[in-house]
This record gives sequence, structure tokens and C-alpha cells, in this order.
Amino acid sequence: MDYKLQAAKNLAHIIPSLDEETLLNLLEKPKSADLGDIAFPAFSLAKVERKAPQAIAAELAEKIDTAGFDKVVATGPYVNFFLDKAQVSSQILHDVIEAGSDYGQTDLGKGKNVVIDLSSPNIAKPFSVGHLRSTVIGDSLSNIFQKLGYKTVKVNHLGDWGKQFGLLIVAYKLWGDKAAVEANPISELLKLYVRINDEVKDHPEYDDDARAWFRKLENGDPEAQELWQWFRDESLVEFNRIYDKLQVTFDSLNGEAFYNDKMDEILDLLAEKNLLTESKGAQVVNLEKYGIEHPALIKKSDGATLYITRDLAAALYRKRNYDFAKSIYVVGQEQSAHFKQLKAVLKEMGYDWSDDMTHVSMGLVTKGGEKLSTRKGNVILLEPTLEEAISRAQAQIEAKNPNLADKEAVAHAVGVGAIKFYDLKTDRNNGYDFDLEAMVSFEGETGPYVQYAHARIQSILRKADFTPDANQTYSLNDPESWDILTLLQSFGATVERAADKFEPSIVAKYAVNLAQAFNKFYAHTRILDDSPERDSRLALAYATGLVLKESLRLLGVSAPNEM
Ligand code: ARG
Repeated sequence: MDYKLQAAKNLAHIIPSLDEETLLNLLEKPKSADLGDIAFPAFSLAKVERKAPQAIAAELAEKIDTAGFDKVVATGPYVNFFLDKAQVSSQILHDVIEAGSDYGQTDLGKGKNVVIDLSSPNIAKPFSVGHLRSTVIGDSLSNIFQKLGYKTVKVNHLGDWGKQFGLLIVAYKLWGDKAAVEANPISELLKLYVRINDEVKDHPEYDDDARAWFRKLENGDPEAQELWQWFRDESLVEFNRIYDKLQVTFDSLNGEAFYNDKMDEILDLLAEKNLLTESKGAQVVNLEKYGIEHPALIKKSDGATLYITRDLAAALYRKRNYDFAKSIYVVGQEQSAHFKQLKAVLKEMGYDWSDDMTHVSMGLVTKGGEKLSTRKGNVILLEPTLEEAISRAQAQIEAKNPNLADKEAVAHAVGVGAIKFYDLKTDRNNGYDFDLEAMVSFEGETGPYVQYAHARIQSILRKADFTPDANQTYSLNDPESWDILTLLQSFGATVERAADKFEPSIVAKYAVNLAQAFNKFYAHTRILDDSPERDSRLALAYATGLVLKESLRLLGVSAPNEM
């Protein structure tokens, strides 16, 4: 039930000059809670009616139908509505209990697909924190859109194509060691890649060889193909270990290589539409009319295609195969020029659906306040970092609750959840400092803090042996309960806002607020005491636990029942 709408309806009956919609937009929240829950400022009518707003407010309060409210009174120039808290609280609790984990679920996106390009690390290169951000934000957005009834397609657009694979093949043939690569694929391949990039300065012939090998790869040469496949498979073994730890899955692993045979069509389409211009032997598309200074380089003078050529093919493929309502790319801010070009080229091609594509950009992660740099040794190796988070969580659990069953699973949920949550609570365009200590802390706006509130609620419910009943009338009107209830009521709108802005941080902040509101209530109220409100308080705890768990699920974080 929308109480603002009810207030607007009641007002519309007595203010014929304004329609319901206009009235709804005029409604405010009173400056303080003792003034009521909804306020109508009478100023807007003063001019037309040529009366003082105070007099208008008094008159309206006199005439209004109070249905749905406890009382409606005039205070100065405002008409203030006081909700019938007993009735409202029982309605909210009824709604949550009845819906269960479906609470907040809508069919807004029914029949619509959202393609989410996420994670997308580069083969033979380390999985960076940037890729971690993209993985957890993309995965959370998928959950959020599903909650709103959309069907999502999570695509891991692996960086598995390009001239660098030519270089890698040359390096492997010169200095490679099969056993070493098998033992430590990414670090070995990276070493080879770094070495050849270094030595190519003195050996320009390596560059020619690399170009030749990449051409062979593009043309399906079996030896090139086999090596490439092997690099890819070995890298994926490492990436999959990270994905398993993060508990993230994908619907498609079609990376850049998948579009090798789909780029000719793009070049043909561009030529057909007369969009290609030659520039120093290369093929480019001018985008000046979009305010983009640099033309998009589609094909190099040596015939090689580029990152953007593959993204053009990928965009068209996704439109055809998934008929998306939205197609989003969860990628760092540093690629914003690329995505502007990508969208502009598609627009030039006459594809208006390019308007449905969004670059969901993210800020940079630092460590100790410094930019990450492989060269300077300021790196975050993801696998050991996840392990470290799990063992720190385990140590805290050991200290707090040594007899806990299933300690390992809980430590995993808390450690990994802590890293994810910290990332997700940050507005995605802001960067953050990677501070493991702060992440796994039970104090502050952290994942463990929210998980702990959830576990505490489950323990209270177990102690009380309480089962909620949707048909029971539960009602509460103390300020601490009311804070929780208004948050519970706003859950659905919160999820919608998060989807609208592609911003999981909205859900993460909501979860922190709800956990804090519950802890405040818990500090004020003896829930388990004999009191006429005992069942209502337990119902409130139950509903809070349910919505906390569901909020965490949307973030890809699990909520243990005990910790
Ligand atoms: N592999 C790229 C990188 O690591 C990210 C790819 C993002 N997705 C895309 N469709 N361009 O920088």
C-alpha cells in the first residue's frame, strides 16, 4: 500500500483544481517525525485562492477524509498526515512474511533480456583487481535485474585474441618450457610475454614473426591454433579457481576469438554504408559529428583487426542472438573512450539499439594509497588474497564462536563475502583502497557486520522457537521498530533504483542501514521478554532477517545462519 498515494487521493477530493499526480508530487516528508509522516504544503494554492497558506491548510484539514490515516492536522502552512502505525506495521510485516524470499520481486522486466559483459580477463595475463570489480559488480547486477523479472545473460568476453598471441607463440617457441607452463600457467606465460616485449627492441624480426604467427592463427593454422588453445585452456584453469572461490558463473565464455570469423561482415557492412575512410593505409570511421575527435581504427594497414572490430561484431551478435533490451559492459573508466566510439560507430551504421548499450564504468583500486603497478611490485594477487581473507575470517570465528559447526564453510562465506561487499558498497565510479583488515572487520559498514546481524536474528528466532504467521496481526509503533519497518517497506524501490543506476552499492548501503537499524532496536528492546508485543517483535526480527539475507543474495554474498 502506498500511503503517499492515499494522501494524494484524499486531497484530490477536496482540491478540484489539482489532479492526483500533481498533488502526489507536491507531498513532502515533514521536518521531524512528531509533525507526522506526510506533509502537504499549502503555499502552492495560496496564489490562486488569494488566501494565506495557513488559512488554506486549516480549511483543508477540516474538510479532508482521514481514511487510511490516524489523523490529519494543520500545522502552520502544512497539512500533516499521521499514519495509523498499528495498521501500517501489520500490513508491512504481513507483506514480507507472505512473500518470503520473493519479497521485492516484480515483473517489471518480464520478457526482456539484459546482456551483461563482465569479468573479461585477458588470457595469459594475471586476473587483476579491475577484473574482480567487474566480476562482482556484473554478477550482482545480474541478480538485481533478475529480481525485477528480467532474463540476464552473463558473458565473459575473454581477451583471447590479438597480435599479442603472435608474440606469445614466438616467445614460447624461443624459450618456452612446457612443464613450467603447466605448473604455473599465467606467471610463466607472463614471463615469456614480458621477455619478448623487452627483447623485441633489439630484435625487430620478432615483431615480424609475431605478425606472421598471428596471421597464421587467424587463418586457422593447426600449430598456431593448438598453442593458442593450450594457452587459453591453461589460463582458464587458473581463472576458474578464482571464479569457484567467488561462486560466480557465466552463461557464455565467448571471448574476442569467437568473433574472428564474424568481423568480415562488419567490414562489409561498413563499406556498404560508405563509412570507411582510408588513413595511412588503415581503415577508419570518422566520428566527428558525435563530438569524438579520434576516428575509430577498424583495420590496420597490415590487415589486422582490432579490439573495437571484435566489439562491433560482438554487439551485433548479441543483438541478434539475445535480442537485448539492455546490453551493459562492466569495465573500468579508462575504457570510456572505447565504448563511446563503439556506440557511435553502431549508431552510424543505423543501429538505433546502440542507445540500449551502457558502459557501466568503475573507478580504480589502489593499495596503501598507491596505484597498482606490476612494474613497481605493488600488486594484488587475487588467489592468495582470497585465501588470506578466508583465514582471517576463520580466526575471528574461532575467537567468537569456537564451537560453531561447519566453521570452514562459514569462514569462506565471511571471508569472500567481505571482499565482495567492500567492493560493492563503494559507488562504482569511485575507487577504493584495498584494505583487507577493514574488509573482514565485524565493525563498520562491512559484509561481516551485515552477516552478523542476520546470524544474530536467526539465533533469537531459534531461542524463541518462533514461526511467523502471515495471517496474524503484528503491530508495533515504537521509533526503533518504525525505522526498521520503513526500511523494509522501501526494499522493492531500492532494488529498482539500483537497477536503474546500474549501482549495486545502493543495495549494499541499504543492507548496512537495515542491519544498523536492527542493532539499534536490539539494544533498546528485550525481544524475548514476556510482553504483549513479543510476537510482533519476533515477526519484525524474522522479516528483517529475511530482507537482510535477500539483500546479501543480490550482492552475491551468502548469509550463514550462525557465525
Ligand atoms: N579484456 C578487456 C580488459 O581486460 C576487457 C573487455 C571488456 N569487454 C568488452 N566487450 N570490451 O581490459
